[in-house]
Amino acid sequence: MATTAIYPGSFDPVTHGHVDIIQRSLKLFDRVVVAVTQNLSKRPFLPLEERIFLLERVTEGMGPVTVVSFTGLLVDFARSVPAHIVIRGLRAVSDFELELQMALTNRAIDAELETAFLMPSGRFVFLSSGLVREIWQLGGPFEKFVPEVVADHLRRKPRGVENDGLPGWAGGGWTGGDS
Ligand code: PNS
Repeated sequence: MATTAIYPGSFDPVTHGHVDIIQRSLKLFDRVVVAVTQNLSKRPFLPLEERIFLLERVTEGMGPVTVVSFTGLLVDFARSVPAHIVIRGLRAVSDFELELQMALTNRAIDAELETAFLMPSGRFVFLSSGLVREIWQLGGPFEKFVPEVVADHLRRKPRGVENDGLPGWAGGGWTGGDS
Protein backbone atom coordinates (compact mmCIF):
# COMPACT_ATOMS: atom_id res chain seq x y z
CA MET A 1 0.00 0.00 0.00
CA ALA A 2 1.25 3.47 -0.87
CA THR A 3 2.51 5.44 2.12
CA THR A 4 1.40 9.03 2.41
CA ALA A 5 3.21 11.49 4.65
CA ILE A 6 1.97 14.91 5.67
CA TYR A 7 4.37 17.83 5.89
CA PRO A 8 2.50 20.50 7.86
CA GLY A 9 3.57 24.06 8.51
CA SER A 10 3.03 27.76 8.06
CA PHE A 11 5.38 28.10 5.08
CA ASP A 12 5.33 31.87 5.53
CA PRO A 13 7.14 31.91 3.14
CA VAL A 14 8.49 28.58 1.85
CA THR A 15 12.30 28.55 2.02
CA HIS A 16 15.11 26.43 0.59
CA GLY A 17 15.01 24.55 3.90
CA HIS A 18 11.38 23.49 3.37
CA VAL A 19 12.15 22.39 -0.19
CA ASP A 20 15.06 20.31 1.08
CA ILE A 21 12.74 18.53 3.54
CA ILE A 22 10.13 17.86 0.83
CA GLN A 23 12.79 16.33 -1.42
CA ARG A 24 14.05 14.12 1.40
CA SER A 25 10.48 13.05 2.22
CA LEU A 26 9.90 11.98 -1.37
CA LYS A 27 12.78 9.54 -1.07
CA LEU A 28 11.10 7.88 1.91
CA PHE A 29 7.39 8.03 1.15
CA ASP A 30 5.21 7.40 -1.90
CA ARG A 31 3.29 10.64 -1.63
CA VAL A 32 3.78 13.87 0.30
CA VAL A 33 0.91 16.14 1.25
CA VAL A 34 2.20 19.60 2.10
CA ALA A 35 -0.40 20.92 4.53
CA VAL A 36 -0.49 24.67 5.01
CA THR A 37 -2.12 25.77 8.23
CA GLN A 38 -4.82 28.40 8.13
CA ASN A 39 -4.98 28.88 11.87
CA LEU A 40 -1.92 30.93 12.75
CA SER A 41 -2.24 32.59 16.14
CA LYS A 42 -1.23 35.90 14.60
CA ARG A 43 -1.94 37.44 11.24
CA PRO A 44 0.33 35.80 8.67
CA PHE A 45 2.89 37.65 6.59
CA LEU A 46 1.60 36.12 3.33
CA PRO A 47 -2.09 35.29 2.89
CA LEU A 48 -2.91 31.60 2.70
CA GLU A 49 -3.58 31.72 -1.06
CA GLU A 50 -0.11 33.16 -1.72
CA ARG A 51 1.60 30.60 0.51
CA ILE A 52 -0.19 27.81 -1.34
CA PHE A 53 0.48 29.32 -4.77
CA LEU A 54 4.21 29.58 -4.03
CA LEU A 55 4.40 26.03 -2.68
CA GLU A 56 2.62 24.73 -5.77
CA ARG A 57 5.06 26.53 -8.03
CA VAL A 58 8.07 25.39 -6.02
CA THR A 59 7.01 21.72 -5.95
CA GLU A 60 6.03 21.60 -9.64
CA GLY A 61 7.65 18.62 -11.32
CA MET A 62 9.08 17.28 -8.06
CA GLY A 63 6.93 14.18 -8.04
CA PRO A 64 3.88 13.06 -6.04
CA VAL A 65 3.44 16.21 -3.95
CA THR A 66 0.06 17.78 -3.21
CA VAL A 67 -0.33 21.17 -1.57
CA VAL A 68 -3.46 21.72 0.52
CA SER A 69 -4.59 23.92 3.38
CA PHE A 70 -6.08 22.75 6.63
CA THR A 71 -7.88 24.19 9.62
CA GLY A 72 -8.32 22.68 13.05
CA LEU A 73 -6.24 19.93 14.54
CA LEU A 74 -3.48 18.26 12.57
CA VAL A 75 -4.60 14.85 13.83
CA ASP A 76 -8.06 15.40 12.33
CA PHE A 77 -6.57 16.49 9.05
CA ALA A 78 -4.31 13.42 9.03
CA ARG A 79 -7.31 11.13 9.51
CA SER A 80 -9.10 12.82 6.63
CA VAL A 81 -6.23 12.27 4.17
CA PRO A 82 -5.78 9.48 5.48
CA ALA A 83 -2.15 9.46 6.64
CA HIS A 84 -0.29 8.17 9.68
CA ILE A 85 3.00 9.97 9.25
CA VAL A 86 3.80 13.60 9.94
CA ILE A 87 7.11 15.02 8.71
CA ARG A 88 8.81 17.80 10.58
CA GLY A 89 12.17 19.37 9.84
CA LEU A 90 14.60 19.49 12.74
CA ARG A 91 17.35 22.06 12.37
CA ALA A 92 18.96 22.41 15.76
CA VAL A 93 18.61 21.36 19.37
CA SER A 94 16.59 24.53 19.90
CA ASP A 95 13.83 23.14 17.67
CA PHE A 96 13.66 19.92 19.60
CA GLU A 97 11.69 20.84 22.70
CA LEU A 98 8.70 22.30 20.89
CA GLU A 99 8.79 19.58 18.25
CA LEU A 100 8.87 16.86 20.89
CA GLN A 101 5.95 18.50 22.66
CA MET A 102 3.91 18.70 19.44
CA ALA A 103 4.75 15.15 18.36
CA LEU A 104 3.87 13.66 21.75
CA THR A 105 0.69 15.74 22.03
CA ASN A 106 -0.44 14.60 18.59
CA ARG A 107 0.34 11.02 19.52
CA ALA A 108 -1.55 11.38 22.80
CA ILE A 109 -4.61 12.46 20.81
CA ASP A 110 -4.14 9.83 18.13
CA ALA A 111 -1.86 6.91 18.94
CA GLU A 112 -1.69 5.95 15.26
CA LEU A 113 0.01 9.18 14.22
CA GLU A 114 3.80 9.02 14.06
CA THR A 115 6.06 12.04 13.60
CA ALA A 116 9.24 11.57 11.57
CA PHE A 117 11.95 14.20 11.95
CA LEU A 118 14.18 14.93 9.00
CA MET A 119 17.29 17.06 9.14
CA PRO A 120 17.89 19.48 6.30
CA SER A 121 21.21 19.90 4.57
CA GLY A 122 23.78 21.66 6.75
CA ARG A 123 23.52 24.61 4.36
CA PHE A 124 20.02 25.31 5.67
CA VAL A 125 20.18 24.55 9.39
CA PHE A 126 20.20 28.23 10.31
CA LEU A 127 17.39 29.17 7.96
CA SER A 128 13.84 30.06 8.98
CA SER A 129 10.88 31.82 7.39
CA GLY A 130 11.04 34.34 10.22
CA LEU A 131 14.60 35.32 9.28
CA VAL A 132 13.64 35.59 5.62
CA ARG A 133 10.77 37.92 6.55
CA GLU A 134 13.04 40.06 8.68
CA ILE A 135 15.77 40.31 6.06
CA TRP A 136 13.14 41.16 3.44
CA GLN A 137 11.57 43.83 5.67
CA LEU A 138 14.92 45.42 6.38
CA GLY A 139 15.90 45.48 2.70
CA GLY A 140 18.56 42.75 2.94
CA PRO A 141 19.52 39.97 0.50
CA PHE A 142 16.67 37.56 1.27
CA GLU A 143 16.79 36.11 -2.27
CA LYS A 144 19.53 33.60 -1.50
CA PHE A 145 17.35 31.84 1.10
CA VAL A 146 14.26 31.17 -0.99
CA PRO A 147 13.42 29.61 -4.37
CA GLU A 148 13.43 32.08 -7.27
CA VAL A 149 9.63 32.16 -7.57
CA VAL A 150 9.38 33.19 -3.90
CA ALA A 151 12.13 35.80 -4.30
CA ASP A 152 10.28 37.22 -7.28
CA HIS A 153 7.02 37.34 -5.33
CA LEU A 154 8.62 39.11 -2.36
CA ARG A 155 10.43 41.59 -4.60
CA ARG A 156 7.05 42.74 -5.89
CA LYS A 157 5.50 42.97 -2.44
CA PRO A 158 5.27 46.41 -0.85
CA ARG A 159 7.25 46.57 2.36
CA GLY A 160 4.80 48.70 4.37
CA VAL A 161 6.68 50.78 6.88
CA GLU A 162 10.23 50.83 5.61
CA ASN A 163 13.22 49.83 7.67
CA ASP A 164 12.33 51.35 11.02
CA GLY A 165 14.84 49.26 12.91
CA LEU A 166 12.26 47.14 14.71
CA PRO A 167 12.42 43.37 14.39
CA GLY A 168 9.33 42.22 12.56
CA TRP A 169 6.89 43.96 10.34
CA ALA A 170 6.06 47.27 11.95
CA GLY A 171 3.42 47.88 9.32
CA GLY A 172 1.01 45.79 11.39
CA GLY A 173 1.74 42.45 9.76
CA TRP A 174 3.36 39.23 10.82
CA THR A 175 4.53 38.36 14.27
CA GLY A 176 3.73 34.68 14.04
CA GLY A 177 5.65 31.41 13.88
CA ASP A 178 9.25 30.97 12.86
CA SER A 179 9.61 27.70 11.00
O1 PNS B 1 5.56 25.96 10.44
P1 PNS B 1 5.07 25.89 11.85
O2 PNS B 1 4.40 27.18 12.22
O3 PNS B 1 6.14 25.49 12.82
O4 PNS B 1 3.94 24.73 11.89
C1 PNS B 1 3.25 24.44 13.09
C2 PNS B 1 2.06 23.50 12.81
C3 PNS B 1 1.17 24.09 11.74
C4 PNS B 1 2.57 22.16 12.35
C5 PNS B 1 1.28 23.32 14.14
O5 PNS B 1 0.99 24.58 14.68
C6 PNS B 1 -0.02 22.55 13.96
O6 PNS B 1 -0.01 21.35 13.84
N1 PNS B 1 -1.15 23.28 13.93
C7 PNS B 1 -2.46 22.68 13.78
C8 PNS B 1 -3.28 22.76 15.08
C9 PNS B 1 -2.92 21.61 15.97
O7 PNS B 1 -3.11 20.45 15.66
N2 PNS B 1 -2.36 21.97 17.15
C10 PNS B 1 -1.89 20.99 18.10
C11 PNS B 1 -0.50 20.50 17.70
S1 PNS B 1 0.32 19.84 19.06
